[in-house]
Amino acid sequence: MATGSSHHRARLRTRAIPLLVVVMLAVLVLTALLRASRHDFVPPARASVGGGANHTIAQHKILLDPDFTPRLPRQSALSLSLSQRNLLPPRNAARFSRLPQGHLKIVLYVHNRPHYLRLVVDSLSRVEGIGEALLIVSHDGYFPEMDKIVRGIAFCQVKQIFAPYSPHLFPDAFPGVSSGDCQGKAKAAKKQCHGDPDQYGNHRSPRIVSLKHHWWWMMNTVWDGLEETRDFDGHILFIEEDHYIFPNAYRNAQLLVGLKPRKCPQCYAINLAPSDVKAKGEGWESLIAEKMGNIGYAFNRTVWRKIHAKAKQFCNFDEYNWDITMWATVYPSFGSVYSLRGPRRSAAHFGKCGLHQGQGSSNVCVDNGEAAVELDAIDKVPNIKANWPVHIIKKQEGYQAGFKGWGGWGDRRDQELCLSFAYMYHFQDTLSA
Ligand SMILES: *[C@@H]1O[C@H](CO)[C@@H](O)[C@H](O)[C@H]1NC(C)=O
Ligand SMILES: *[C@@H]1O[C@H](CO)[C@@H](O)[C@H](O)[C@H]1NC(C)=O
Repeated sequence: MATGSSHHRARLRTRAIPLLVVVMLAVLVLTALLRASRHDFVPPARASVGGGANHTIAQHKILLDPDFTPRLPRQSALSLSLSQRNLLPPRNAARFSRLPQGHLKIVLYVHNRPHYLRLVVDSLSRVEGIGEALLIVSHDGYFPEMDKIVRGIAFCQVKQIFAPYSPHLFPDAFPGVSSGDCQGKAKAAKKQCHGDPDQYGNHRSPRIVSLKHHWWWMMNTVWDGLEETRDFDGHILFIEEDHYIFPNAYRNAQLLVGLKPRKCPQCYAINLAPSDVKAKGEGWESLIAEKMGNIGYAFNRTVWRKIHAKAKQFCNFDEYNWDITMWATVYPSFGSVYSLRGPRRSAAHFGKCGLHQGQGSSNVCVDNGEAAVELDAIDKVPNIKANWPVHIIKKQEGYQAGFKGWGGWGDRRDQELCLSFAYMYHFQDTLSA
């Protein structure tokens, strides 16, 4: 080694000492800052991809409870393999390579009714504009026939996700049934069983709690988890495995999204159908703002952040239906929540109501998926006019603040799993039990 170089190095060293102190101080300050902000994580803004569009990404501070440690169940081999599948890129991306600006993401959430799903997929295939959308299908449980139907979709980009903590994936452990769990109205102390009864004295049933878990896992995953959607700043449209989608649904949804800021600034969302699931709409020459419905609803990230901020209320409310939970706790906490829709529906509920609407509902239901929904010519083309006024329906029947819930959601483990879903993408060291 040349002496000149070692001399140079020595000079560098003397100059490096104050520099080293500065660097060390900076590291200390940074570590302290990072520690302090661990519980209010702000997602980094990412450049938007494609089209050179300048999106303003809705960013909000996420406030988390420092006293709650999220915990997720230990995954089985099947659950782990599904988590891996959730990372796969969308299918058909080569054929539908450009998702244009102003497109909607569509999330279809399904359980296990293949003959319904076939009908829904068939209806989607005839939707004008569907090729511009990313369709995300979220599965509650793994059912080969459901998987196969979704893998067969060829009319748009499709991303498939599976709720890895679905009770349906855990045959002998929580969130499924574990040995030692209390059943029915058992008294925990007397029977020496495990579980907390709901407000009516009933213990948890995995089959019943799975819907609310799935909806909440899916919401958190599409808004805050998936690479394909976590920076998306448009509207996401949600539909279910028993919602028949009309050919004009996508274009109407885009029209409503475009009209909402001007026509109904107080509206949180848009809907493809009236909140009364049996209604076909008034047929008036006007837009309608009414309470949020659960058939084909779409909202943006600003609204999601408000919902997410109510995670505790959502997760602790003793009600097993996600939609009734929203109507009775989350929406009332925002004040009055309106959703904008057209005067004719663009989606229809056709399923047997089963778990969803309670017993003895008089909905029109189909068993075999054969009973098609009657469509008029006007339902096949966009049928919303920008110059229509808005009719606001203020007083409405139905679930609201003060309703104490149908129960079914009293077990602390369900409430904690639910809250863990709200934290899992914002808390680096979510524990696996
Ligand atoms: C994007 O929009 C922001 C806010 O309106 C603006 O400050 C910025 O210059 C824009 N960037 C580009 C690349 O257009
Ligand atoms: C999202 O929708 C809400 C409710 O319609 C609206 O107030 C808000 O400005 C929208 N946010 C963005 C980023 O467009």
